[in-house]
Amino acid sequence: MSEADTQPRPTVLITGVAGFIGSNLADRLLSEGYTVVGLDNLEYGVEEQIPDGVTLHRGDIRSKEIYALFEGVDTVFHLAAKNCISDCQDDPVETADINVTGTVNVFEACRRAGVRKTIYAESAAVYEGIETMPTPEHEVAPQSFYGVSKLASMEFAKAYERFHGMKMTALRYFGVYGPRQDYRRSIPPVMSAFIIKLLRGERPTIYGSGAKKRDFIYVDDVNDFHLLAMKDDRPNGQVYNLGYGRPYSVGELFDEIEAILQTGITPEHKPDLPGEALVTHADITAARSLGWEPKVSLEEGLRRSIEYIRKHVIEAQA
Ligand SMILES: NC(=O)c1ccc[n+]([C@@H]2O[C@H](COP(=O)([O-])OP(=O)(O)OC[C@H]3O[C@@H](n4cnc5c(N)ncnc54)[C@H](O)[C@@H]3O)[C@@H](O)[C@H]2O)c1
Repeated sequence: MSEADTQPRPTVLITGVAGFIGSNLADRLLSEGYTVVGLDNLEYGVEEQIPDGVTLHRGDIRSKEIYALFEGVDTVFHLAAKNCISDCQDDPVETADINVTGTVNVFEACRRAGVRKTIYAESAAVYEGIETMPTPEHEVAPQSFYGVSKLASMEFAKAYERFHGMKMTALRYFGVYGPRQDYRRSIPPVMSAFIIKLLRGERPTIYGSGAKKRDFIYVDDVNDFHLLAMKDDRPNGQVYNLGYGRPYSVGELFDEIEAILQTGITPEHKPDLPGEALVTHADITAARSLGWEPKVSLEEGLRRSIEYIRKHVIEAQA
């Protein structure tokens, strides 16, 4: 055993640990021997999906009471957010309060505690007004309140780097999917919505023509990158696109799922949802420069997602 293997692994704090990406990240970190502290107000997250072994603190990222939790923490993953685009359009004030003020409060907690590395969730929504495909990290034009709130958090991160020398990394997630993707929302993420409806023998809804394209990335691939970002100790304020680098239209996605499930059901169409980009397509050159490569194909990721939903949603509710 090498010396590194015998050293206790550092403590990692995850905000939004009860959510989709946070709970999957917690699983991965625990399996690699890290101590995981979680912070979540359980507003959208689900307590039962927080893995055993996480020390959960129920609290709000906007509260100054969270500062004490950050003492002794090596790395923070800040994932908590208000992140349903249509909910954010309905309430821009709360969107700014959680996604901007709350994020700055987390950065401030990291500064006060001397956290070594702060990694925070941004979003491909910052590219809503960009037509360059695949999209590199330096072109941004958010249109929705959600997208604007994510870009604002990046500007605050840059200021923390500038004035306090903090090590900050932004993760610009594209369409992350996999087990525990939030299917309870009024308008669930497209992939879970299709799978659940088809498994129940119901017709899924496509908003608009189905021509909108999305770059989907499986959550295990995202976790591979999380670990690389944690270990990258350069004080360089990097921003990384995390997508597969290959977009699929919503119609193609439906066809891929139907090809696996073979239900014979056709989708119904409803009017388009406002504020969504027509195409997302990640340029993943920067992420690849850290030695990362997405490994899970859409077909494989769909098969795993279907098995999860069959067991944990359909059979659990039966
Ligand atoms: N899932 C994706 O495809 C995707 C794409 C782009 C960006 N993102 C970003 O990644 C992050 C994680 O996304 P997710 O899909 O896991 O979301 P999620 O909604 O499943 O999880 C977010 C978690 O944050 C918690 N939370 C919300 N407001 C809070 C507050 N004020 N205080 C404490 N906790 C709070 C919620 O209870 C929830 O558990 C978010 O910042 C999101 O904007 C996700």
